[in-house]
Amino acid sequence: MTKRVAIFVSGGGSNMEALLDDMAKPGHAAVPAVVVSNNPSAGGLAKAAARGVATEVVDHRPFGGDRPAFEAALLAQLEPHAPDIYCLAGFMRVLTEGFVRQFSGRMINIHPSLLPLYRGLRTHARALEAGDAEHGCTVHLVTPELDEGPILGQSRIPVEPGDTDEILAARVLRQEHILYPAVLRRFAVGDHTPIFLP
Ligand code: GRF
Repeated sequence: MTKRVAIFVSGGGSNMEALLDDMAKPGHAAVPAVVVSNNPSAGGLAKAAARGVATEVVDHRPFGGDRPAFEAALLAQLEPHAPDIYCLAGFMRVLTEGFVRQFSGRMINIHPSLLPLYRGLRTHARALEAGDAEHGCTVHLVTPELDEGPILGQSRIPVEPGDTDEILAARVLRQEHILYPAVLRRFAVGDHTPIFLP
């Protein structure tokens, strides 16, 4: 049965585009249901709308620190789209344990590091500061702890001499665009076997 996918974005949405491009190919087991953002000016919203994908916005700012109220509003916007799978793609809000538990086994995230290394922010700078020979990105099931959860895929690249965090981030992002669609393809048919690239 075709799975319906909700994609959460906060910014430019290049990972979202990679997922939408792949779902548009014949034979994919999933279709986009909705793109949702906490940021009314997220570039990803316009890109999704231009492709005819439904969009929803729940600005987190009026909710102040009331995360459960923000999440209740998010849920209300999502429900009519009846998603089966939830893809976090550059979604920059921390979700509460209660919210995440509702989607256990159905929510996945992409993170720009080789988890379990470098949960949270500044992942590229931290990899460079540590003198790592390799860096990369990870897709994982979302669990209540930030950037944890079983790994569904990982792509590693060498750190090159002269890399700055911007240069490294750009190279990792290209890998994200390959890894995330590859993982979603498997995930949509219930296959949780991890993918390791390249
Ligand atoms: C990606 O690097 C993602 O892994 C991180 O934020 C970035 C979002 O980029 N969490 P985009 O919005 O998909 O272009």
